[in-house]
This record gives sequence, structure tokens and C-alpha cells, in this order.
Amino acid sequence: MTQAYPITEHKYDVIVVGAGGAGLRATLGLAEKGLTTACITKVFPTRSHTVSAQGGISAALGNMGEDDWRWHMYDTIKGSDWLGDQDAIEYMCREAIPSIVELEHQGVPFSRNSEGKIYQRSFGGMTTHYGKGNALRTCAAADQTGHAILQTLYQQSLKHHAEFFVEYFAIDVIMQNGECRGVLAWRLDDGTLHFFRAHMTIMATGGYGRCYLSCTSAHTCTGDGNAMLLRAGLPLQDMEFVQFHPTGIYGVGCLITEGARGEGGFLVNSEGDRFMERYAPTARDLASRDVVSRAIAIEVREGRGVGVNNDHAYLLLDHLDPELIHKRLPGITETARIFAGIDVLNEPIPVIPTAHYNMGGIPTNIHGEVLSVSYGNNESVVPGLMAIGETACVSVHGANRLGSNSLLDLVVFGRAAAQRCAELIKPRTQHKSVSKALLDEPLARFDAIRHAKGERSIADLRLEMQTVMQNHAAVFRSEEILQQGVENMQATWDSFNADKRISDRSLTWNTDLAEALELENLMQQATVTLKSAVNRTESRGSHAREDYKDRDDDHWLKHTLIWLDESGQSKIDYRPVHLHTLTDEVEAIQPKTRVY
Ligand code: FUM
Repeated sequence: MTQAYPITEHKYDVIVVGAGGAGLRATLGLAEKGLTTACITKVFPTRSHTVSAQGGISAALGNMGEDDWRWHMYDTIKGSDWLGDQDAIEYMCREAIPSIVELEHQGVPFSRNSEGKIYQRSFGGMTTHYGKGNALRTCAAADQTGHAILQTLYQQSLKHHAEFFVEYFAIDVIMQNGECRGVLAWRLDDGTLHFFRAHMTIMATGGYGRCYLSCTSAHTCTGDGNAMLLRAGLPLQDMEFVQFHPTGIYGVGCLITEGARGEGGFLVNSEGDRFMERYAPTARDLASRDVVSRAIAIEVREGRGVGVNNDHAYLLLDHLDPELIHKRLPGITETARIFAGIDVLNEPIPVIPTAHYNMGGIPTNIHGEVLSVSYGNNESVVPGLMAIGETACVSVHGANRLGSNSLLDLVVFGRAAAQRCAELIKPRTQHKSVSKALLDEPLARFDAIRHAKGERSIADLRLEMQTVMQNHAAVFRSEEILQQGVENMQATWDSFNADKRISDRSLTWNTDLAEALELENLMQQATVTLKSAVNRTESRGSHAREDYKDRDDDHWLKHTLIWLDESGQSKIDYRPVHLHTLTDEVEAIQPKTRVY
């Protein structure tokens, strides 16, 4: 195979795959520490999906009122419906404060309060005094916080001489004797193949929202890292937990930030009723996302949806001061005008719960090191391999992520991974040997897809997969719906394997081939999402089973692990949830009955 596809070899101390918030934060940290670093990315760094993060990044800075990282920790554990690992959550909430101060010093143009400090807004589930008050904890750069962070991290990475390989598609990790030796990648603009060798390979490839028909994710969110690790025989964790954001624009899915409700916006049904007052009397529109998404779904189901088909809800902002909207919410004002054709100062925004975030992913420890959990539960670190950001499952979000904890996860664990690499790797040391025969299998897979001669287009197969996920793995689930989804998904995957058609055989800018590789990655994740969901017979966080309506801590206070082979066969095992803290400065919190 390497004769048909000549390979260019590169050697670095560390390779980062992906240039979103996590990838860039790691890249910057690595370059600052003098490690030779290559960041490989399939899109230009500042076009990565983090650019679209709107509302903000959480940290208990206390700029707008009292706050404490312990309250942030409590909220995150409760928001996770007790599936989050408490040691990892402690780490994230404590490290939030220095991580944000660093971002500010690096140049992120945060909005300011009247004292000139970083502006912080209210977000769902963020409280003071362990649930008693409302915290102003989400640091914002208007409603374009991800954009501001991404630009800054990219500029700082260049300043520190990190190298970027832009528009390179990572095909597979190369594993030898259980250790990662690097990544095989395809350069999209000239069709050449590249083997990036490194002491450490860091997956920062983001989520897999594009499994769904309606999602807030960019078209590039195809979970390539998750799929590469499944193919390497490693498990994924908690894949049944997919977050639906309550306010995607009806019909198109674009995000309307939770910050809009944080600034005073609220939801109404067809009767003009502020229905969140009934579902969550205290938190109301700022209850956690799983609660608000289910409330909208119930209002629609019970006939109180708005619009011609009574199938969505309205978000009202027209009672807010136009000056506040102009200053704090300029991005969504434009998004609503372009994608819904409405003026938020005068009209309601039509919204619907939309797939937004994957809590599950590659199991890691708090340093970003990937965990190999053998079937039967022996845990060890996979040498040479890390995962950070949405592709990872640390697990700080458990069964449901709080809004604005995602940008935080990216920067805290991107930073932690770089720190760990600096401890483990001596710059510019010799690389371990690697057998070139290991490139044959991924190249054969690539070649087989490139030359596929079936009847069905990639677009057709992708639509079929997205329809299965939208209909069978959405806000409310049941055994019957999920099991049918598993069967339909298997049929779609079989059809992909037997009958896909690639029309373009070239290697240069072959978008048909790139989309086929992405689709195979997505199908693997759709399959493990459905299988993990049918297996978990309880309701927890974003996983709402109509046939098992309660959380069942006796049987299900545990993480799901799932492995998948090429034919779609899976096996499932479990890991305990860490119900202990990292230090003795804070007490662990035991699961409680849900109170909103
Ligand atoms: O609503 C939002 O601005 C989204 C934030 C998040 O998912 O963290």
C-alpha cells in the first residue's frame, strides 16, 4: 500500500489533532514549554467549531457578586445528575480561575463591567451558596466568546512558533504494541499522504453532532478522534448522553445562546404562558438544559406548541432594553435576522431543542491521558495518547453539561495536557521505532472507500443516518424506539459498506472522499450512541427514558464503556463514578433526589 501511496514522514515531540479551543490551548502550552509541536487540522484554525460558542466561559471570579469555586463544583456535580467524576470536577472548577486570568492576559477581549473587570452573566444551573442564590459566573465577550478565545489562542500559538498543518485530514492513529506512535493524515489540497510521528498524540477533534439532522454543530463535527480510537480497539464512555440545547432556531438549528435567557429573555407557549415557571419554579428559564428541552417537548406534545404546525416554542427578547441587546447580544440578533428573518427587538424567536453537545467520548484522566479500560475493568493509561475537549470524557459533565462549562473544559484540560507533556517528554529526544507495515491497514481502508463503486451517494446515506438519529435518539427515548434505531442504523451501515458510491477518484480536493471518511466515523458513533442508550434502563440527565422515568442509583450510578468492531458488533462494560474529591479542601457530594 505504501507503494501506491507514497508517505511523507514528519517527527515532532507532540502532535495535536484539531485546532478548536482545546487543541489550540494545548498547542500554545506545548510550544511555550519548548516542545516541538505540530497542530494538524482539517479546517483553518479560526474556523474550528469553537468559533461559534456564544454565551461564555464559567469561572467563579466573583466580579459581579459573591462567588466560590466550591459552589461552581456543587452546581456541576448536580447538573451532571451525579454521573460526573467529582475529583475531575473539583480540578476543573478550581483551575477555572487561573485559566481565565491567563486568557485575559493573553489578550482575549472580554466584555467589561462598570469597574472594568471581566463581565459575567447568569447561566442555567449556576448558583451561589449551594443552590440558594443565582450566580453571575459566565465570563463573556458579548455573545461571541468562542470567537474571541479562538483568535487569541491562534495568535499566541503562532507567536510561540507552533507549526500548523492546515487542511490535513487525520485518517487513523498508528498503534504499536498498545502505544500510540502518531497519526496518518491526508493533505487535502495536493492529495499527498503524511505520517506524523510523535512521543505524544493529542486528540482534540471535537464532538459528533453531525450524526443528527438538526444540530448546532459545524459540518466538520464528525467525531473523527472518537472513531479513530474505536478502530484502534479502545472503548468510548457514556455515549448515550447527548445534550439538546433548548434554543436552536426552528427549522435550521442555529444556536441562540442561553445568554439570551441569562440577560432576561424567556420562553412562552401558544397561550403566551411562561411555562418554565411550572417546570422549574425557582430556576425557571435558567434551569439546566435537559430540563428546559424536555419542557419544550412536553408543551409541544400536549398541543401548546407555536407556529403553523404547533411544533415549537417562542423565545421573547422584545421586552429587553434595545441598548442591552445591542451591547450584549449582537451575534444572535444577526443570526435571528439571517436565519429566521426576524427582528429580535420586535418579534419572538421560534426555537426548538437541537442536538448540541456530546457528554460522552474518549475516557481520560485529569491530565488528558487516555485510559485503556480492559473488559473487566482494569484501568491503565495508553502510552503516547491523550484526548481533550468534546472528544474526551474526563468526566466533568456526567449525564448533562451546564452551559458555559464547555469552553472551560477546553481551556482547563488543554492546559493540563500541555503541562503533563512537559513532565513526560524531554524535547527533541529520539522517537521509538515504528513498523511501516502498520500503515497498510488504514491505507487499505482509505483506498477501498476511494474506489467504492456502489449505487448510493454519500449524501443519501448521511441523510438516512441523520434521520435515524433524529427519530430514534432524541430528547425522549424508550426501549422500542431505541431498539428500532439500532436496527435501522445497522441497515444503513451495511448499506454504506456494500453499496456506497464515490464519484471522484482523485486525491486532490476530493470532498466526496472526505465526506465518506467522515460519514464512516459518524456511523460508528451513531451506532454506539444508540446501543449505549438502549442498554441504560433509567433516566439521568439528558437520557430521558419514558419506560424508566426515574434515576436509578442502585443500578446505574456508573459509566458505560462500549467497544465496537468493524462489523458493528459491540460489547459493553462499566466504570465506577468517582464519588470522591481530589483534595480534602472540599467534601464529596452524595446523589440526591432531583430538585430544580
Ligand atoms: O447557549 C450557549 O451560549 C451555549 C453555551 C454552551 O454550550 O456552553
